[in-house]
Amino acid sequence: MVSPQSIVLRPMTQSDLPAVCAIEQQVQYAPWTEKLFSDGLERHWCLVAEKSEQIVGFAVVQFVVDEASLLNIAVEPTQQKQGIGRLLLDEVLTQASAKKATTVFLEVRASNQRAIQMYQHAGFNEMGLRKNYYPAGNGKEHAVMMALMVF
Ligand SMILES: CC(C)(COP(=O)(O)OP(=O)(O)OC[C@H]1O[C@@H](n2cnc3c(N)ncnc32)[C@H](O)[C@@H]1OP(=O)(O)O)[C@@H](O)C(=O)NCCC(=O)NCCS
Repeated sequence: MVSPQSIVLRPMTQSDLPAVCAIEQQVQYAPWTEKLFSDGLERHWCLVAEKSEQIVGFAVVQFVVDEASLLNIAVEPTQQKQGIGRLLLDEVLTQASAKKATTVFLEVRASNQRAIQMYQHAGFNEMGLRKNYYPAGNGKEHAVMMALMVF
């Protein structure tokens, strides 16, 4: 596990986008484009995790009235399984609480057991399925909808 002190969490900036996109390309079946991240910077709350001044992860959250939606979260493959994803997620929940969101929503591929476990450990509950929601190698894949009440 990383020590939380070795990870700096800070707002994402335009100059971070090449590093963020490089991570996205490695971890997503249908990666966001740089334009999508750039638009996200204007509209959403975007966060990066740095280790030794290198970007090792990020999260993008949409806030609408009293609801937050976790649109994207990822950790660079060689840095996974050390607690960085959970640090990012915990910061998202802290920010949701600070912004007076009542609920955080997200959708995740049904096959993505790593992410589902992380969300469950953080207290998220499954709310339902969006059938055939994501493109997948052999057709389509269901999305699991999850939510966490923030107090
Ligand atoms: C999901 C993701 C962000 C987790 O990041 P991470 O830094 O590896 O996660 P952490 O090390 O903080 O682990 C958090 C929890 O995830 C789960 N997890 C992590 N790696 C796992 C693995 N190999 N197998 C099963 N569960 C795993 C565990 O529940 C873990 O909690 P625990 O250590 O208390 O058991 C990362 O795997 C990733 O970037 N995946 C690709 C992108 C993605 O799927 N994003 C989510 C889209 S909804």
